[in-house]
Amino acid sequence: MSVLLQTSKCIFRKPFNNTFCKYVFLRKNSDVPKKFITFDEVVAQRRAEAMRSVVVQVNSDSSFNELYGYCSKYASIKDIHHYKNTGGEHFMVIEFASEDNLKDVLKSCSSHNKDHDVISVQSPFLWFRAAVGNKEKFADTGKKLAVKNGTEICNEDVLLEDILNCETVSDQIQLLYERTTLNDLSIRLRYIVARQLEMIFNSLYTNVKIQPFGSSVNGFGRMGCDLDLVLINSITEEMGAASRRLVFQEKRSARQLELAGALLELRVAGVARLTRILNARVPIVKYAHEYAGLHCDLCYNNSAAVHMSELLWQLGELCARSRALAVLVRRWAAATGLTQPHPGRWLTNFPLTLMVLFFLQRTGLLPSLNRLVSEAGKEDIRIAEENVNCTFLRDLNKLPADSYEQNDDDLQTLLFKFFEFYSQFDFQEKAISINEGKPIRKPNSLPLYIVNPLEQSLNVSRNVSYEECERLRLEVRNAAWHLESCLDGKKSDDWGILGLIEKKSSRGLKKLLRVGNSHRLVSMKDLFTDNDNEPSVEGIRSKMQKFVKTDKEVDTSVKEMKSEMSKEQKSGKIKFKNNQTASAVYRIRRDKII
Ligand code: CTP
Ligand code: MG
Repeated sequence: MSVLLQTSKCIFRKPFNNTFCKYVFLRKNSDVPKKFITFDEVVAQRRAEAMRSVVVQVNSDSSFNELYGYCSKYASIKDIHHYKNTGGEHFMVIEFASEDNLKDVLKSCSSHNKDHDVISVQSPFLWFRAAVGNKEKFADTGKKLAVKNGTEICNEDVLLEDILNCETVSDQIQLLYERTTLNDLSIRLRYIVARQLEMIFNSLYTNVKIQPFGSSVNGFGRMGCDLDLVLINSITEEMGAASRRLVFQEKRSARQLELAGALLELRVAGVARLTRILNARVPIVKYAHEYAGLHCDLCYNNSAAVHMSELLWQLGELCARSRALAVLVRRWAAATGLTQPHPGRWLTNFPLTLMVLFFLQRTGLLPSLNRLVSEAGKEDIRIAEENVNCTFLRDLNKLPADSYEQNDDDLQTLLFKFFEFYSQFDFQEKAISINEGKPIRKPNSLPLYIVNPLEQSLNVSRNVSYEECERLRLEVRNAAWHLESCLDGKKSDDWGILGLIEKKSSRGLKKLLRVGNSHRLVSMKDLFTDNDNEPSVEGIRSKMQKFVKTDKEVDTSVKEMKSEMSKEQKSGKIKFKNNQTASAVYRIRRDKII
């Protein structure tokens, strides 16, 4: 490894843009300028969509006709989308033509049962009861589901296989982005989950809003990411007007989230496994929404976080390449273990995204936040709780065209330059600041310093330990070296981004399982027969010899596989079919890959 590190610097000097990419991102002066819409407009559209939508649990996707016919009696339907939750239950998201339509539908709903423990509550989450008596016949309207299985996460094996078959690294990055980015239905569902809470809270409070934020709305989210929600006490100008002399007597409490937790637990259908983390800097209530198949975090009065999402979304709008690049970098960091699913002394996706944006500012693709602040007008003033100033230009059409996208590098070049940039970054002395768009002197000796763009006295990576920062430096060099080695044009099995996004623990083994140049994977069924009780190492060895050349390769691989299998067995994940036949091992649970 040390040899690689020592040589990496001179390797970097080679150009990395000598391959053809079918995705071209040049923005020429002659191009028609982009027309931007604002984040507020997008949010308003999504909220309006949620306010005329319901989610109905059904038997299967074939319930479509009956549901369509039944609901059409009450209201005009715009679209119906189908999805399954993690438990395999079927749901239809119905969008009606108007909010009034939805009100009519909700008026027509009945309550679950006469159980004393149930007090009926209005919610956009419903279920479709079987017809009583003679089944009503609904004429075939010729309408179709807008989408079936719409929230399904793409099959990892198919994805990796398709990435392997891409022509260029840029194509690989773009494909990963397109296949894994949050889709329309997932976003709809997130706003409906927010709307469900809002309906309940609005029956208690005068004017509260539940707003999704974070990766669900900032344009950097992947399918299946958690849903961050904030309960906002939105006081309108009218409500705060001093000329209104009669004022409500109100109860002051710093424990709003406690009540929210209780409401969620006791009143909100679909909520399960709720936990309260109330002593954190930003207290949250965590829960699973079983009908929507989502993990949610709810916090209170944290509109700065929403403005942060707005800022990230805007930067993504200015340069579409930033989204694809950030999605890849986030995937890479998860694969290398730089980020983890649980909190700790390591990086998380948010600071990592800031690192990507900062790099893009250095390459002329994005303006600094200070530039957006200097272009802001009166209409852009936003002051969040605790006087956090969140003022920056909202209408990107007002931004001079020469302040962004001043670089026509394709994605693979940018990716390489990203790793190169951070391989050479002086983490010891410098802090990353998207406000300045250039490195600044670190105000303290914390290992990694990434300035919080909206509260500049804070470091969003203050939790990152020295060891983790060192690992970051090492991994960016490894990644740059890996991409550099792809330049020779030969497409090996971990070619391009595959070598960056496949988990290291399974990489060697998977590499081995890909046969020759066909780039196909050996099915685990080839390694285990139905008569195998437990997969014996010797059995695996003899079968593997068919696919690989040297004994050493077999030995290494068998060792890796054995260790993976024992890990899996310990965690109880291996399922044995036909009396202990191993049908799946680790992530290589590939049924019919061949
Ligand atoms: N946030 C912030 N300051 C921080 C951490 C987070 O303002 N120190 C805001 C950002 O807007 C961030 C959001 O809170 O996007 C949610 O944080 P988190 O869930 O950690 O990150 P996500 O961007 O949502 O990424 P992930 O997909 O990993 O959840
Ligand atoms: Mg999040």
